Amino acid sequence: MNEPGNRVVVVTGAASGIGHATAELFRDLGDTVFGLDINPTVPDGVTYVPCNIGDTAAVESAIEVCAVHGRIDMLANVAGIVQFGRIETVTEEEWDRVHAVDLKGPFFLIQAALPHIRACSGTIVNVSSVAGNVAQPYATAYAAAKGGLTQLTKALALELSPEGIRVNAICPGTVDTPIVEQVFHKLTDDLDSRVADRLMMMLPGGAIKPAEIGETIVWLASPAARMVTGAVIAHDGGMS
Ligand SMILES: NC(=O)c1ccc[n+]([C@@H]2O[C@H](COP(=O)([O-])OP(=O)(O)OC[C@H]3O[C@@H](n4cnc5c(N)ncnc54)[C@H](O)[C@@H]3O)[C@@H](O)[C@H]2O)c1
Repeated sequence: MNEPGNRVVVVTGAASGIGHATAELFRDLGDTVFGLDINPTVPDGVTYVPCNIGDTAAVESAIEVCAVHGRIDMLANVAGIVQFGRIETVTEEEWDRVHAVDLKGPFFLIQAALPHIRACSGTIVNVSSVAGNVAQPYATAYAAAKGGLTQLTKALALELSPEGIRVNAICPGTVDTPIVEQVFHKLTDDLDSRVADRLMMMLPGGAIKPAEIGETIVWLASPAARMVTGAVIAHDGGMS
């Protein structure tokens, strides 16, 4: 792993919310940052690499672009989509879409990036969710995909620990991003406003800011976290 300021960092979902804030933080440290997204609105100074992470061929091509320097010091799997609705409303198409972006995407990004991560003893962070660790109603497909991502993180951390490659997960609670607006709108208008209240209940200071999750990702990439692997870090104001 290279020192901060001299690293190659790949951030998925860099066009919005947590991924955008994370890409900015690494950029500000002087690292070379590639932002993979279906939208081009990545921060200035971050190289945009168009990629639908649910498409494995597109993922492989995108990683080749990012690995131009022969190494990837940090892969931050941040991109994700939510699903909120009663079980009867979840179509096969929605189930597949959520699993393609939230679980399959991170898996094949890691697989494609691994030779380049190995080249510099780099590190991997997966942004999972509080919904992957504790029960949350009306989010069955999302919870299943994020629970899978959390468990994938732990299994891979053990598999790669002999090589010194660290793999960690962060499980945010309610973060102030466009995703959360969708969720609250859906819960309040269609489902159960008590659940929306409960999601906010644990956050006396208001919703978490995207950069606060980004700072945890930056810390996980830092030398100070060299002994942290297989960790599932709840960043949720106590929600879980
Ligand atoms: N906001 C929250 O409260 C919260 C809570 C827990 C977990 N999370 C997780 O944090 C991550 C980031 O969410 P956010 O809140 O910043 O959301 P966001 O909607 O602000 O950002 C998500 C980004 O992912 C991109 N994206 C979506 N589908 C994609 C695809 N197929 N290929 C490439 N990029 C794609 C979007 O274009 C967007 O830029 C997600 O994995 C989400 O599940 C968010």
